[in-house]
Amino acid sequence: MIPVVLASESAAAAQKWLKVIEQHFPDLDAHIFDPQAPSPTPDVRAAIVWKPPAALFARYRALDLVFNMGAGVDAILRQPEIADTTRIIRLEDAGLANPMTEYVIHYLSGITRNFGVYEQHRESRLWQGAEQTPVQHCTIGIMGLGVIGARIAQALSALDYPVQGWSRSPKALPGVRSFHGEEQFAGFLGSSQFLINVLPLTDQTRNILNRNTLGHLPKGAVLMNIGRGEHLVEADLITLLDSGHLSRAVLDVAREEPLPGDHPFWTHPGITLTPHISGPTNHYQAIRQIRGKLQDALQGKPISGEVIRDTGY
Ligand code: GLV
Repeated sequence: MIPVVLASESAAAAQKWLKVIEQHFPDLDAHIFDPQAPSPTPDVRAAIVWKPPAALFARYRALDLVFNMGAGVDAILRQPEIADTTRIIRLEDAGLANPMTEYVIHYLSGITRNFGVYEQHRESRLWQGAEQTPVQHCTIGIMGLGVIGARIAQALSALDYPVQGWSRSPKALPGVRSFHGEEQFAGFLGSSQFLINVLPLTDQTRNILNRNTLGHLPKGAVLMNIGRGEHLVEADLITLLDSGHLSRAVLDVAREEPLPGDHPFWTHPGITLTPHISGPTNHYQAIRQIRGKLQDALQGKPISGEVIRDTGY
């Protein structure tokens, strides 16, 4: 039995993980983190977390391994008390990439094929096709070509969209025009009519979507942010939508979540908003992946998805 502590911002989520573990992975001896418990459970060297409370790291100082129940590890790296020696491991796909691709295709095709207009046509009994943008005329730019970005790129490329990607280091993906590094960023943006952000949030990528960078996009471009809210300077987006430089933004994330009731995004006509649902973690697939890596790590074998602290992902 491998002892493991579970900690999530949501008690209901941790309960669900525990159920999956009890049902499918009986070799994990899991318990939910209880900050009120008089002392930490001894022998626990591994944690499974999503936006964990700071108290976890204050309590469990000897954690060797922290497994994130999501792709982005920004909430863990922000923890002041996490030990330098603790290894942090992010989820690699585990069911996230396909629903995120589905999300992209849903909103992308809704815009390029004008699907939204038919609800209005229906009200006036109008049987009439509307303008559609041929896929060849909509170059997709994907920021971030990790597991998720690559899956989105592959799917859109199979639908014949011209696809290009930008990443920190050079990446070669079949059918995808690759840009990398700061010096190629403006060129990448300049030819992206539909920009999709799936970058990890790091000190280098915080505020990367701002008036200056988004200003390089062709007039009328669309921004889709399914990364993190902190990638985007929100006031700059509103300026660019209001000036007509951007025609639309599809946002699944915001700097403050839940989005405050008086936030201008709620009512802006150029913004489509969803509450951070594009990539739901599949609990079974995630825990199966984590359990495999945990077993390998305990046997001293190399594991993938380990976060490099200096890089931030
Ligand atoms: C979701 O936002 C994730 O990082 O998995």
